[in-house]
Order: sequence, then structure tokens, then C-alpha cells
Amino acid sequence: MTRKTDMTVVVTGASGRTGSRVASAARAAGLTVRPASRAQGFDWTDRSTWAQTLRDADAAYLVHPGDVGSPAATLAVGLLAHEAVSLGVRRLVLLSARGEEHARPTEEALRESGADWTVVRAAWFMQNFSEGPLVDGLRGGELVFPGGEVREPFVDVRDVADVVVGTLPAGDRYAGQSVTVSGPRLLSFGEAVAEIAKAAGRELAYRPVSAREYGARLAGFGVPPEEVELLVDVFDTLLDGRNAYLSDGVRQVLGREPRDFAEFAAEAAAAGTWRG
Ligand SMILES: NC(=O)c1ccc[n+]([C@@H]2O[C@H](COP(=O)([O-])OP(=O)(O)OC[C@H]3O[C@@H](n4cnc5c(N)ncnc54)[C@H](OP(=O)(O)O)[C@@H]3O)[C@@H](O)[C@H]2O)c1
Repeated sequence: MTRKTDMTVVVTGASGRTGSRVASAARAAGLTVRPASRAQGFDWTDRSTWAQTLRDADAAYLVHPGDVGSPAATLAVGLLAHEAVSLGVRRLVLLSARGEEHARPTEEALRESGADWTVVRAAWFMQNFSEGPLVDGLRGGELVFPGGEVREPFVDVRDVADVVVGTLPAGDRYAGQSVTVSGPRLLSFGEAVAEIAKAAGRELAYRPVSAREYGARLAGFGVPPEEVELLVDVFDTLLDGRNAYLSDGVRQVLGREPRDFAEFAAEAAAAGTWRG
């Protein structure tokens, strides 16, 4: 196996949940990181900003800021991957979603670019409960979400990032492959909220609603109608029990077990994440 550690890797979404961890893990692995979000002048919606971001890099981590299954993501990932390949940046790792059929055209767009691609398909992030739209509800004492009683193997984004970085200096080993990552334990949304309540030392409730009802709440918060439609469709299909199984990508790439939800909850509670 060829190992290349003097790599420069472009990290899109470098200020976001996965990108920030990919950047730290890549630096820890001795790679040179070129962060790419709007603060650095890289914009997924402005093609004129792409070449300056990609030029002379060896690899790139691609995370689209919208849902990976959105038509905008399919279009942008395909175009950017083509541009990267034409600039000689062939090693591309895309963050995708486990079990999300809508995401397949985006993965296909990456493959069609001719890149040495890897797709990392992630389960639901644990950090959805601590860094994102679900936090406010939990701080207020109740999570309203269309998760029913479905069980999901929530994954820590640090493990997603470690897997992304683990595939990079490994030469061709993961080129042309999809790696599917989950946490080590199935939990329903209600069970996850109960674990958070225990770690945070306060009472928290989970109120399941239909995807349609949740969509109406999102629209009320100003989310644009086309995005609401997609999310309702994604939640309707993704949260129907099809993903109630574990995936072993963390063990496959890193040779260790994924982090458990209890560890995540304890750390985020200690940081005061869910204080009311
Ligand atoms: N949540 C889950 O459970 C889950 C599971 C599997 C896959 N996914 C996929 O994960 C992706 C989201 O990843 P994430 O949670 O790491 O993202 P995130 O935390 O929402 O961060 C988005 C990042 O993109 C940047 N950004 C936003 N708009 C941009 C633009 N127009 N041009 C360039 N950069 C832009 C942001 O930085 P600036 O604002 O500074 O530009 C930020 O760094 C989605 O594609 C989703 O489908 C999510």
C-alpha cells in the first residue's frame, strides 16, 4: 500500500460539523489542510471560486451544505468533481447519507467525474442533538421530531471525520468504494432523549410528530418551501425503520469501535449544551 502523508487536502464545510473535525483529524494525521468555506472565498453556488480553492491540492473532502440528496447538491458535486479532476485533484471523498435514496444521484455524479472517489455514507449524527436545529427544542425541554419509535445507530461526527481522513493517505485502497458508518448501538429518538436527559440531569421529553407536521413547523421557521418538501420526503422514507441496523465502516477503516452515544451525551452535557 502506498502511503502519502505530504498531502494537501481541501476541506469544504471547514467551519461546519463534519468539516471542522475532518480538518482537525487531517492535521493530526500530518496532512496539510486547505479549509474551504465562504470565509475563505469558496462558494458552492459560485463556480468562479472553485479553481483557486482546488488548484495544486492532492485531495478534497466534499460536503454539500444542503441535503446531499437535493438536486442542488447533485448538480454542484458533479460540476465541482469534474473541475477538480481537470485540475489534477483526483482523490475526492464525498459525505453522503446512509439509506437515503435521494442521495444516490449525487454519489453517481461524483463517480461520473472520473475521480478516484470514495463515498462515506453516514448514519444520523449524534451532533444533530447538540449542534444544529434540534438543540433549541431540547434546551426548551422538549424535542419535537418525526422519528416515531424508529431505532437509529447515531454516529459521532468525530468518527465520520476519522474515517474520511483514514481513507485519504491509504493510496488507492478506498478509491472506487463506498464506506458506510454508524455508531455502535441502535437507539430510538425517545431513548436518545432519555440518555441526554440523564447526562444533563434534567427532565426532557420527546414528542413524535408526522413528517408533514414537522415540515409545517419548519416552514413556520422560514425554511423555503422546496427545502421543506425535500426534507419531508427524506424524513418520511429515511425514518421508516429501514436503517435500524449497524454498519461497520469505523471498524473497517480505523480498526476500532465507534464512539458510543453515552460518551457523546456526557461530553456535551459537561459543556453545558442542554442547559435550559
Ligand atoms: N445531519 C446528519 O445526520 C447527516 C447524516 C449524513 C449526511 N449528512 C449530510 O451532511 C451534510 C451537512 O454536513 P455538516 O453537518 O458537516 O454541515 P454544516 O455543519 O451544516 O456546515 C455547513 C458548512 O458549509 C459551509 N457553507 C454553507 N454554505 C456554503 C456555500 N454556499 N459555499 C461554501 N460553503 C458553504 C458552512 O460554512 P460557511 O457558512 O462559513 O460558509 C459550513 O462550514 C449535508 O449534505 C447532509 O445531507 C448529514
